[in-house]
This record gives sequence, C-alpha cells and structure tokens, in this order.
Amino acid sequence: MKVILVAGARPNFMKIAPIWEEMKKYPDNFQPIIVHTGQHYDYEMSRIFFENLNLSQPDIYLGVGSASHAVQTAKIMVKFEKVLLRERPNLILVVGDVNSTFACALTAVKLNILAGHVEAGLRSFDRSMPEEINRLLTDAISDYLFITEESARINLLKEGRPEEKIYFVGNVMIDTLLSNLEKADRSQILSTLSLKPKDYALLTLHRPSNVDSKESFVGILNVLGELQKSIPIVYPIHPRARRRIKEFGLEKRMTKMSHFKIIEPLGYLDFLKLMKESKLVMTDSGGIQEETTVLKIPCLTLRKNTERPITVNIGTNVVVGNNPEKITKGVEGVLEDKRKKGRIPPLWDGKAAQRIVTILRKKL
Ligand code: UD1
Repeated sequence: MKVILVAGARPNFMKIAPIWEEMKKYPDNFQPIIVHTGQHYDYEMSRIFFENLNLSQPDIYLGVGSASHAVQTAKIMVKFEKVLLRERPNLILVVGDVNSTFACALTAVKLNILAGHVEAGLRSFDRSMPEEINRLLTDAISDYLFITEESARINLLKEGRPEEKIYFVGNVMIDTLLSNLEKADRSQILSTLSLKPKDYALLTLHRPSNVDSKESFVGILNVLGELQKSIPIVYPIHPRARRRIKEFGLEKRMTKMSHFKIIEPLGYLDFLKLMKESKLVMTDSGGIQEETTVLKIPCLTLRKNTERPITVNIGTNVVVGNNPEKITKGVEGVLEDKRKKGRIPPLWDGKAAQRIVTILRKKL
C-alpha cells in the first residue's frame, strides 16, 4: 500500500515522524512516501527537524514557499495534484491544521484518493483563526479521522461526521516527545544561553491575532516588560513575529527589556530541553499546550481560546488571552508555587502511531 505522508510547516514534522517509522516496520504492507510542501523552508523552520528526528529526507519537495493564503493553498494543490497523478497512492495522511493540511486533503479526495486526518476534530470555535478553517474543512472531507482527545469526537459528531470514521488513537506529537526526551537531555542549550534550570520562562508568540496588529503586540510586550523583571524570559522568535517587530519599529523597545532574550528559532531537541527545564511556558502555539501538559510544566496560553480543552481540564494549561492582569496573575501564581499540577490525558502514552498503523493494516 502506497501511503503519502504530507508535511509542510514546522509543527508537522514531529507528527509524521512516528507514523513513518511505524510504517517502515511493515514493508510488506506499506510503502510510505514523504511529501514536503515547502510551506516552511528556512533551515531552522524545516531541515533541522528532519535531522533532529532522524526522519528520512522528503521523497518529494514541492517548494511552494510563502504567499497569501489563497496563493499558497492554490500552489500546493496544483503541485500536489501532479504528484498524486504520478504516484497514485492508496491513501494520503495529513496532520495538524496548517494550509498544507487542507490543500493536500482537498486535492486527494477530488481524485478519489482516500485521505486520513491525524489530529482531527479539534475546535477553537473561532473562525477568525486560519487554522480553524483548515481544521473544519479537512475534517469535512477526510475518510479517516484520528483524534487525540474525546472532545474531538463530540465536535465531529455535531458536524455530522459518522462515528465509524472516528478513531481515538492518542497523540502522535507526544509519541515523538517521549521518544526524544533522553536525546534532548543531552542538549547544551541551557549553558549556551547562560540559563539555569527552573529560573526562566519560555515564550513563543507568532499567531496573527497577537503579532499582526501593533496594538496587540505592544500590549503583550508591555506586560512581558514588567514580568521579565521577576523572571528572565527567553523568546525563540518565529519569522512572522520577527518581521512585525521591524515593521512596527519595536526594536528599541525590546533592548530596554534587559532580561528579555530574543533568540533564533530552535530545533526540536533544543526546544524540548528548554521547555522541560523552564519554570513556566507562555505560548500561543497549539502543540506546546500539549507538550507542557505531558512535561507537567505550567503553561499560560496567550489566546482567547484553545482547541485543546483537555490541556486545561486535566493538564497544566491556563488560557489567559492577552489580558495583562490575567497574564501577570498567572505568572505570579507559578512564581509563588501555586502551580496547577495536572495529569497526563488518556492514550498520550507514546503509542498513537502504532494504533494508527494497526487500524490502517486492518482496514485497507
Ligand atoms: C503556520 C501555520 C500555523 C503554525 C505555524 C508554525 C497556517 C495557516 N499557519 O503559520 O498554524 O502554527 O505555521 O510555525 O498554515 N517564513 C519564513 N521562513 C519559513 C517559513 C515562513 O521566513 O521557513 C515567514 C514568511 O515570511 C511567511 C511567514 O513567515 O510569510 C508566515 O509563514 P506561513 O507559513 O505563511 O504561516 P505561519 O505564520 O508560519
């Protein structure tokens, strides 16, 4: 069975890695092919992840690069259709919620090729998020819906998706995290950045809703400017946010924050190490809410909502939005050791890829 695994942007690579590895164990059943759309293309946004994860180089690279949503989505579709017509796979698997996810699923189903969505059913119920649109559309057309938490099943059923297409398998991102913990421990990133364990906060911030408007970006920076006086903040910066800082003329403002350290985007192992040793994490990413829950690190989500409610209900996550008081209260709470303990969600045990591959072997 020929299976195309699609990855395009940074958060996709760690999700396809365990599935590819698992399929490789059954050469009589599977011929996995990795297609990289090239949505992300910088070394530290893409190639370093293949190196860190020992993932085979993409078999096919589409090189679409950055563009507006419409142009990027369309470019992926045009190029991916050619791949599908040539390769004629039995199934394609897409992961997550980026433009590559939806573009490739749509292209496949229009050619009557089966599509599976890994991480289906998550909903923020906020349609101003580009990722929410990608999630809704991908789930509406996929034949296999692999879910990470039970809330996803409820969402999918409400949208009229049939029960028999939904499979609760756990979380492939956590498969990758658990299998790389030891390797990450050998990372020298703390000494490189002169940081002490449990003595810094880790920040990621790149969502359009936070960084694309000057008002909201500055608002968040003002709060962080105060907080960095109590605990150093490390910020591996996403290219989108880096561009906005320049555009909005915020560089000077940043240099005044002496314990606010902006660094280049990090590879998987260095980032995992930095997350694991941090006192707390502040983020607007999706996956990091899940990773901190498993690592039992307090997480403040700088968004109005989350599509991953289990990280709040049983994990370490607290959604604080961009409200200065809530952010400050959240950080102070952790510093005073009033931290949320949290438990690990069901089936986030490192075996999600195994379950997906077992299901596919039975079904196909
Ligand atoms: C995308 C995903 C988002 C995910 C994020 C992770 C969509 C709609 N969004 O957002 O869900 O959380 O990736 O990183 O798919 N750029 C570079 N180098 C790169 C890649 C991007 O410089 O390797 C710059 C480009 O200027 C580009 C901008 O970053 O215009 C945004 O990249 P894009 O992939 O369009 O969206 P992200 O904001 O990264």
